[in-house]
Amino acid sequence: MSPHDLPISLPDYARAATQVLDANACAYFDGGAGDEATLAENGNAWRALRLVPRVLRQLAGGSTRCRLLGRDLRHPILLAPVAYQRLAHPDGEIASACAASAQGAGIVLSSQASVPLETVAAAIGDDRDRGPLWFQLYLQHDDGFNRELVQRVECAGFDALVLTVDAPCSGVRDRERRAEFRLPEGVAAVNLAGLPPRPPAPADNALCGGLLRHAPCWDDVSRLAGWTRLPLILKGILHPADARRAIEHGAAGVVVSNHGGRVLDTAIATAHALPAIAEVLDRRIAVLVDGGIRRGTDVVKALALGADAVMIGRPQVHGLAVAGAQGVAHVIRLLRDELEVAMALCGCATIAEIDTDVLARGLP
Ligand code: GLV
Repeated sequence: MSPHDLPISLPDYARAATQVLDANACAYFDGGAGDEATLAENGNAWRALRLVPRVLRQLAGGSTRCRLLGRDLRHPILLAPVAYQRLAHPDGEIASACAASAQGAGIVLSSQASVPLETVAAAIGDDRDRGPLWFQLYLQHDDGFNRELVQRVECAGFDALVLTVDAPCSGVRDRERRAEFRLPEGVAAVNLAGLPPRPPAPADNALCGGLLRHAPCWDDVSRLAGWTRLPLILKGILHPADARRAIEHGAAGVVVSNHGGRVLDTAIATAHALPAIAEVLDRRIAVLVDGGIRRGTDVVKALALGADAVMIGRPQVHGLAVAGAQGVAHVIRLLRDELEVAMALCGCATIAEIDTDVLARGLP
């Protein structure tokens, strides 16, 4: 790629990625559920919020530094869990993790990662300047397997567990179905190898009698919290009442997420769900948000609405597809630089200074 073709924004990376990803991978990474209403709305909702900058404030000495779950971070940007990254680049999750580490971004490794979790943890080592290293978990139908996986995650040095709670079954993904999406030879959820087969479901009731028989419930959250010394974060919370239950069941944080619009189409956009959740949680546990964050201004808005940090999913894959680890690092750097510019132009020297005051009221 010549310097002239180098993407200069996350939307640029999204466009460039479509040139290098094959149709199968594009359908998987870029697609959403149903008519993709939530997928579109996620981004539109951030963009529709209007900023009201403050001027002439003291900006000297400002920074994007912040704290999350007791850890100092260079900035509040994490990589969301995205499965099967070797579909986008042969280095897969190792590249994303190394890029995040170099850029001080947090990493949430998917349990459907295409690289062993121990290899990813070893690749970034214990660089104290790196962001947090979290592991995303789907509770499987076999408790012995779940417990062993959690032990592996702890032994490998991960800092927290992120339990995805919004996908007891997969969404209806038209793009994937049209493309007849298949994992190519050599790409697999390697950390789930050895999972015993699911017991057979009654033929007339495959979903509720099969898959959903093992779908996690609130009691499983408390059980999981009891098995591990790691903080537990629930990803996929959209209702304030569920945020309240998350605290009651021992969660250290929540991710306000609709799974990037990949599960329940027409689910509320995360920018719209965030304020009520932040209000009930009242800073008692960490609040993260993902879905459609593509600009530094989106990050400012998310923090203003009560998030402690944001996660990006598809943009990391776009960076990975276009330029491997360098691409992911560039994506993070671009977003962080845009965040700094947006903070300065809003008159906020520090992350702590960002609050609802920077948002126009009464507008969509
Ligand atoms: C996995 O979580 C997916 O959304 O494909």
